Amino acid sequence: MGQQFGRRSWAEPWKIKMVEPLVTTTRGQRERALLEAGFNTFLLRSDDVYIDLLTDSGTSAMSDRQWAGMMLGDEAYAGSRNYYHLEAAVQQYYGYTHVLPTHQGRGAEHLISRVAIKPGQFVPGNMYFTTTRAHQELAGGTFVDVIIDEAHDPASSHPFKGDIDIAKLDALVAREGADRIAYISLAGTVNMAGGQPVSMANIKALRAWSDRHGIKLYLDATRLAENAFFIQEREPGYASHSVAQILREFCGYSDGAWMSAKKDSLVNIGGWLAVNDFALFEELRNLIVLYEGLHTYGGLAGRDMEALAIGIAESVQDDHMRSRIGQVRYLGELLEDWGIPIVQPVGGHAVFLDAKAFYPHLRQEEFPAQVLAAELYLDSGIRSMERGIASAGRDPKTGEHHVPKLELTRLTIPRRVYTQAHMDVVAESVKSVWDARAQARGLRMTYEPKYLRFFQARFERL
Ligand code: F0G
Repeated sequence: MGQQFGRRSWAEPWKIKMVEPLVTTTRGQRERALLEAGFNTFLLRSDDVYIDLLTDSGTSAMSDRQWAGMMLGDEAYAGSRNYYHLEAAVQQYYGYTHVLPTHQGRGAEHLISRVAIKPGQFVPGNMYFTTTRAHQELAGGTFVDVIIDEAHDPASSHPFKGDIDIAKLDALVAREGADRIAYISLAGTVNMAGGQPVSMANIKALRAWSDRHGIKLYLDATRLAENAFFIQEREPGYASHSVAQILREFCGYSDGAWMSAKKDSLVNIGGWLAVNDFALFEELRNLIVLYEGLHTYGGLAGRDMEALAIGIAESVQDDHMRSRIGQVRYLGELLEDWGIPIVQPVGGHAVFLDAKAFYPHLRQEEFPAQVLAAELYLDSGIRSMERGIASAGRDPKTGEHHVPKLELTRLTIPRRVYTQAHMDVVAESVKSVWDARAQARGLRMTYEPKYLRFFQARFERL
């Protein structure tokens, strides 16, 4: 008790109004479920999952305000009042002029890739994301990774591992010419690197570089509010700026953005695409009616747009962000204290386990990160996600596996859903899988879909 004296804790800025029971299973049930799912956690039924850390996408808890907003849905086909609320929220918090709703992030990625990439062009970006790169390739582009080298090293504690290495951009221009570059594709808190942020200094430098070469700069804004929190915390000069101010400044250096609102914005479905240039907007607005829906709903119900407009405002509150990222960090620090290898520093939306360090006896072609996700599920019913060689897919030109340096298993934390006690349970299960690591066996892929194979691939034990 003595050491507790003077202690002042800080807690989540909300209390719980509605609860949802969790499912528990036996080891035998989990063995059967995993076999049926072909060792792919995407193919498990959520009824067989205890704590679901598959993704932070669409899995967050909405607030009472958002649920109240759902009741105010204006389900008009055209010109819904909720669209105007959404438009105003994106303009206010992200700062772009023209806004199109989409059903989710990849709907927006599809449209911007189609319009802004000419076949044969290159799209440099700060590490690939699965759906983003897939749409860039479908549009005839070639993705080029220009993230700093530190991002590929799980042990590097660089504070802004999401930064782009401008020398790599220069080399690309020197090799291919500026007119063969479609745009810079810059993501906030880089998902595949471990949720690592981009600095304000980097986007300022990128803006200057883009202006020099006449190349556009578009953002993947999916977890950009989380990125703003890291700038506030780590970048000199930003400690006294709010997350909202930092977000707005950051976006101000770009020409537009696409968004999977299912992450930062605290909704279960939704996305948007926003640009400042009217001619580009006109093209996108024309295409959206073919693929998503009319430009004032883009595949969303009016009530979804209302929940999203409210969620955007909630997502940039400093105390919300502090508790959200604080919870992720709490889990990461528990694991670090036990010497379990994770990506450093702990990122925004997830703790990433370094599967190569778990299973040095497995070759990367034996899918160590997939093995780790399977073992964790077997141990406790906790669901995680592979982010390694299965996610990386194949080079569309050569047909060879992309072999990423990072072979990770992601423990992704939904927003406002689980408690600190759940994080303790997760950490203890990871510890037991770590202790049994020498016994783990590799996997062989038995079914491989053509696109985004990790979602539906099947495996068996070697
Ligand atoms: N960009 C990033 C950085 C993402 O993380 C995602 C989705 C998307 C775009 C695509 O958005 O799912 O709404 O179509 N990431 C999810 C995840 C699937 O689990 O990381 P979407």
